[in-house]
Amino acid sequence: MIENLGIGIDIIEVSRFRRKKYEENKNFYKKIFVKSEINYCLKFKNSAERFAGKFAIKEAVIKSISEKIGFLDIEIVYVGRKPRIRLKNSLEKKYNFIVSVSHEKEFAIGIVIAEKI
Ligand SMILES: CC(C)(COP(=O)(O)OP(=O)(O)OC[C@H]1O[C@@H](n2cnc3c(N)ncnc32)[C@H](O)[C@@H]1OP(=O)(O)O)[C@@H](O)C(=O)NCCC(=O)NCCS
Repeated sequence: MIENLGIGIDIIEVSRFRRKKYEENKNFYKKIFVKSEINYCLKFKNSAERFAGKFAIKEAVIKSISEKIGFLDIEIVYVGRKPRIRLKNSLEKKYNFIVSVSHEKEFAIGIVIAEKI
């Protein structure tokens, strides 16, 4: 972390999610994603790409801050079509984030910059 800024990036193979169908692996998904994220991804035909993108974002958030944090403490929400990070724990008021994500058939990548307030 440089002064009050941190950065995180992560790349994920979409096949990790494509081979784990949501309907047969609900517990797996519920350990990583909150309900709103699951509902969002399942709306799309390429839901595995969307899940991989969200997973990449969550790993990037974890890399961007110094405190330990779990996947379910991080919620990806939307302002229009733009993703935003919301923390669901005591760190909520301590950080601002900027985030971007991209996904193709094989890979998804997420990048996050964290500002400690
Ligand atoms: C927004 C846009 C850049 C997304 O690019 P893409 O290559 O289709 O998709 P990517 O995989 O790179 O990115 C998708 C992610 O970008 C994010 N995103 C979507 N729209 C966004 C926007 N306006 N601003 C920031 N992020 C955006 C979302 O998080 C999305 O993933 P998610 O919905 O799973 O969370 C693209 O759809 C676009 O509008 N391009 C402008 C040119 C254009 O209109 N082309 C089509 C006609 S030729």
